[in-house]
Amino acid sequence: MKEPKEVDGIFQADNPMPPWWKLVWLISIIVSIGYVVYFHWYSEWPQEVAFEKEVAEHEAQFPAKQPIVANTEDGSNPYRDDAVAIKEGEGTYKQICSACHGPTAEGAVGPSLVDKDWIHGNTDKEVFHNIMKGIGPERQKLNRGGMPAWEGLGAEKVYAVMAWLATKNSTLVKAK
Ligand code: HEC
Repeated sequence: MKEPKEVDGIFQADNPMPPWWKLVWLISIIVSIGYVVYFHWYSEWPQEVAFEKEVAEHEAQFPAKQPIVANTEDGSNPYRDDAVAIKEGEGTYKQICSACHGPTAEGAVGPSLVDKDWIHGNTDKEVFHNIMKGIGPERQKLNRGGMPAWEGLGAEKVYAVMAWLATKNSTLVKAK
């Protein structure tokens, strides 16, 4: 052991690291090499695999929603005249749309949906688009804040609301 030397009143020694410390250092190097080799080539738990496993588990537990009702060729509502959908659609309408279009769809902030006047088209295809995508500032005609997009409800619910509306309004037509 060398004599500590003094620098600015601080004693500084230049001792070698103790052997146990060097051993720990060496072991950690060896372990890290082993870990890298194991983790990258032999283990089954790299992040991508773990992620995929977890996604698969989640999907098994919560199966993806049924695919959206088959789109009809002319864009007409596949739920037209479907009694179950009409009932469900009425419920969705009352819950969500009635706030703006009135409890009987005769209009409030939003226009009446049961008269023969359609601002943005009266075919299933157009109405479906208007409800799903909403009517933003660039398209709105009434200047009453526009129509929010309801894509979040999913196509099935929107078609169901339309099926109900069609029972109230014969000018909501299947196609041109
Ligand atoms: C926040 C209020 C609001 C809600 C909620 C709302 N709408 Fe609207 N909707 C409007 C407004 C305002 C317009 C008119 C947009 C314009 O100025 O052109 C409109 C327009 C429409 C149109 C076009 C009407 C036409 O004459 O072409 C349809 C169809 C429609 N809404 C259906 C729905 C349905 C179905 C729901 C429920 C899922 C719904 N709306 C919920 C405000 C709303």
